[in-house]
Amino acid sequence: MAQYTLVSGSVGLITLHNPPVNALSAAVRQGIVDTVERALSDPKVKSVVICGQNGVFCGGADIKEFGTNMSGPPLVPMIHTIEAANKPVVAAIEGSALGGGLELALGCHYRIAHSKARLGLPEVSLGLLPAAGGTQRLPRLIGVPAALHLITTGRRVTAAEALQLGIVDQVTDHNTVDVAVKFALSVEGRSLDARCISTYPCPCPSDLDALFEGVMQKVRQSARGAIAPVACVQAVRAAATLPYTQGMEQEKELMATLFTSGQARALQYCFFAQRAVDRWSMPGGARWDTSKPRPVHKAAVIGLGTMGRGITVALAEAGLSVVAVETEEKQLMEAKQAISGMLERGAKRHGVAPAPDRISYSQNIQAVADVDLVIEAVFEDMALKKKVFQQLSAVCKAGTFLCTNTSALDIDHLASQIRNPELMVGMHFFAPAHVMKLLEVVYGPRSSPQAVATAMQLGKKMGKVSVAVGNCQGFVGNRMLKPYIEQAFFLLEEGATPELVDRALEEFGFAMGVFRMSDLSGLDVGWKVRKGEAEPGVASGQPARIQQDHRYSPLGDLLAEQGRFGQKTGRGWYQYDKPGSRVAMSDPWLHSFLEEYRAQHGLVARRIDHQEVLERCLYALINEGFRILEDGIAAGPEDIDVIYVFGYGWPRHRGGPMFYAGMVGLAKVLEKLEHYHQAHPDVPHLQPCSLLRRLVTSGSPPVNRWREVIKKLHSQL
Ligand code: COA
Ligand code: ADP
Repeated sequence: MAQYTLVSGSVGLITLHNPPVNALSAAVRQGIVDTVERALSDPKVKSVVICGQNGVFCGGADIKEFGTNMSGPPLVPMIHTIEAANKPVVAAIEGSALGGGLELALGCHYRIAHSKARLGLPEVSLGLLPAAGGTQRLPRLIGVPAALHLITTGRRVTAAEALQLGIVDQVTDHNTVDVAVKFALSVEGRSLDARCISTYPCPCPSDLDALFEGVMQKVRQSARGAIAPVACVQAVRAAATLPYTQGMEQEKELMATLFTSGQARALQYCFFAQRAVDRWSMPGGARWDTSKPRPVHKAAVIGLGTMGRGITVALAEAGLSVVAVETEEKQLMEAKQAISGMLERGAKRHGVAPAPDRISYSQNIQAVADVDLVIEAVFEDMALKKKVFQQLSAVCKAGTFLCTNTSALDIDHLASQIRNPELMVGMHFFAPAHVMKLLEVVYGPRSSPQAVATAMQLGKKMGKVSVAVGNCQGFVGNRMLKPYIEQAFFLLEEGATPELVDRALEEFGFAMGVFRMSDLSGLDVGWKVRKGEAEPGVASGQPARIQQDHRYSPLGDLLAEQGRFGQKTGRGWYQYDKPGSRVAMSDPWLHSFLEEYRAQHGLVARRIDHQEVLERCLYALINEGFRILEDGIAAGPEDIDVIYVFGYGWPRHRGGPMFYAGMVGLAKVLEKLEHYHQAHPDVPHLQPCSLLRRLVTSGSPPVNRWREVIKKLHSQL
């Protein structure tokens, strides 16, 4: 779908039309081919302008078409026809020019962008590369280093940056199409020889080999096993070293490998999953489209520890007025200073002015009387939280939403203590709260759909990927983490080392293995929680084997008792050259400690390989994911996967734990869990959950069909 009109007497105006983002579906491609042909063959037409409807140039290839029988005219020859035209073609870029959209624009002879437009080649984030000439034209236009950066990261640039880089010829604040038409009229009849990017020599720095070697090393390191960024570097190298036509051949070949890869499928799943979580639902039937959020202009944060500070910054950066309350004077002064520093750094990063004047500080809770929403972030102590919520119920104006930032406490219990439990939800932020993208919005049975809708919308405004989840111990993310960490501890008891376990997980693609992560977040955190929840008899130093028929490993407790809290004390599962250092080094003390521990408890160390580490840690985590789905705590597998990709360092190119289970094969996951549960009958987390069994019995449907099975399961209960 592309519309064609003749404007200003001699300009053929082609408008892409495919709401909402004018993606290049087969119909749009056909529309462009037809309208370009019409414009080029019409003697009245002396120039052409291509634009997109509704203020968006083009969001790129239609991702929904991938994996289907793709029909319609291909992009490469279509863009060639435009570049080879003997009439000037001008791209009028409003909104977004991404992926194939930007490649189309690069085939045009001139590009004019609105000042608010964003341009980029984000294919790498979908497991692909820009295969409609993007890897060959962009380096020719802006040079190899800049093109490498944009193509391997998928970063989108502003119009101003695009102008500076040379991607666009002009930026305007006015009506872009009018400006482009006027411009097209001014260049009619001019030679286009110097305007066809494919004919440009590729501007290369002198030491090309060193450049590519350096970039490749960096890319491989940050890719954590993702193959697309590596292919992007190879394609740009082809642009720098080969004639254009051969470079295009290379681009095509590299794309062919990526296109059918599991990684591309996983990344494309993530793209849609990230959007699917916006369409949340609650077990009672409340949904995103029937629950209207209330606007939040002014919010309050209670308690300015690490979390409270981060949340305050994120709210201020989202443009809200914030009342920040802290009882301790010293802590308040420190928080003020820390928050303005964070705001300044954030503003610098985003190239905007900091907004400290949006925040007012107080030691008095009365200061929150007129806010629309409160986020409480005091100590994780139920009695204190109860007191704070009772005060808030008394102080706040009617209808103020009351949110608690907790990772461990029971939302329902807290809600039962306040006058209006329907106004309460949990907002589980991840540290540092102004940086981490994930937010779990936790509803209880009494939370109103409007409170959930409001927290979800606020999360979005704060730039978070918000996922609505039900209330249970650990919510979704931490609940699944528990069996995963537990398996890692058991593996140490059975003969593994922290280094071995971490290496296996990091090679899988996790940002950090379980023990390095534990050292970073602090062993004392989990220790305190465990001390609070442990049944009598599950204290530290107790035998490793059986606790009330369930195996429990006290290894983490034993380390914490020795003051080995991780990075902050310079010792944990690893050693560090000084407290606070981030470089983990192997610790011979820990290895002897493990040996002594095993000897003490009659455990014989055996050889454990990477595969067992992955199967035991990941399948235990996945099994808990199925339980969460079965319990209705998460509405669908996408919710779990988004939580793990955005909050827990799960490699995006593996799509999240539930998607990964589908890729491995549900029958295989089930079989392995059965096998490990037989070997470890005292570990309930290894007992396959009934939803997993049911899915296998019903033929292991693809992940996008699990909701139907779950629905049926729930209706039978
Ligand atoms: N193909 C198919 N559908 C697309 C699409 C594409 N290239 N880009 C966006 N969509 C869909 C989204 O899935 C969403 O659908 P939904 O409403 O059913 O959930 C809808 O268009 C709106 O997208 P959304 O991201 O919610 O809107 P936005 O205004 O926040 O952002 C873009 C618009 C274009 C910036 C963003 O969608 C984007 O980055 N798209 C992908 C671009 C890309 O990677 N292109 C290269 C393809 S190889
Ligand atoms: P984190 O955010 O890292 O979990 P803390 O738990 O240390 O950090 O922070 C909690 C903060 O809440 C502390 O600064 C504490 O002084 C503050 N605080 C405790 N009780 C109240 C209260 N009733 N009102 C406001 N602030 C409080």
